Amino acid sequence: MTAHIIDGKSIALSVRQGLEPRVEALKTKGIIPGLTVVVVGDDPASAIYVRNKERASQKLGMNGTVLRLPESTTQQELLDIVRKLNADGSIHGILVQLPLPAHIDGQEILRAIDPDKDVDGFHAMNAGRLLNGERGFVACTPKGVMRLLETTGVDLNGKNAVVVGRSNIVGKPMALLLLQKNCTVTIAHSRTKNLADVTRAADILVVAVGRAGMITGDMVKPGAIVMDVGINRVDGKVMGDVDFESAKEVASYITPVPGGVGAMTIAMLMENTVEAAENYAGK
Ligand code: GUN
Repeated sequence: MTAHIIDGKSIALSVRQGLEPRVEALKTKGIIPGLTVVVVGDDPASAIYVRNKERASQKLGMNGTVLRLPESTTQQELLDIVRKLNADGSIHGILVQLPLPAHIDGQEILRAIDPDKDVDGFHAMNAGRLLNGERGFVACTPKGVMRLLETTGVDLNGKNAVVVGRSNIVGKPMALLLLQKNCTVTIAHSRTKNLADVTRAADILVVAVGRAGMITGDMVKPGAIVMDVGINRVDGKVMGDVDFESAKEVASYITPVPGGVGAMTIAMLMENTVEAAENYAGK
């Protein structure tokens, strides 16, 4: 079997096109959705992500701005900036790009963001809402994976889903979203024993570990849906966590890297920002 390749790029494009009339409707009310991305220091991967987020928001006619702060920014300075953004009525979404420098307590910064402007869904309040099944902002990457899964039309009820990776940004929210859809969910991680046995039991396999080509075709159940969240730079080439060539011969659906999950992450960020602006408009 050769897998159907999920075209994240074109699905993301249709999501963004679907947002255009919502942005226009807000503009008729005098509201331009505003997203501010805060980036501290000069992590090269972050620089690329941040530029893409800025471009995508501007392309949609939103106010996308990036605050680039020096590596030497202190905890207090960053907290003050976040609080200023919280108080600014023209800004509906605030995103603090991770990773932050080692001297910054990231959790304290994320907790300082107004949960109503937390378009990344990283605030403990939004993470808790997801845990409880309440409405709130959901982290963009796992939200994007769910949207891609929907496009396959496969019924998720009772399926075995395995998430490889347990980060707060992807692995944990991903597992909760799959659980909400009645999957039987396993989270595997670096200490998991016999990883291949675990992944081979997965009808849906989501991989978010940050190790190029770690999941090979022999670790995939025939007919599984494989969602590759990895973005790894190897010799100047972008590669996923899944060895695409071998996995695509076994899976029923698979996301490529690039052009899979990554494209959806930004589309989901745009959607969350439009939603934040709509919530503001309705206040
Ligand atoms: N670093 C890598 N991915 C992300 C993301 O989705 N949001 C933020 N804020 N930082 C990241």
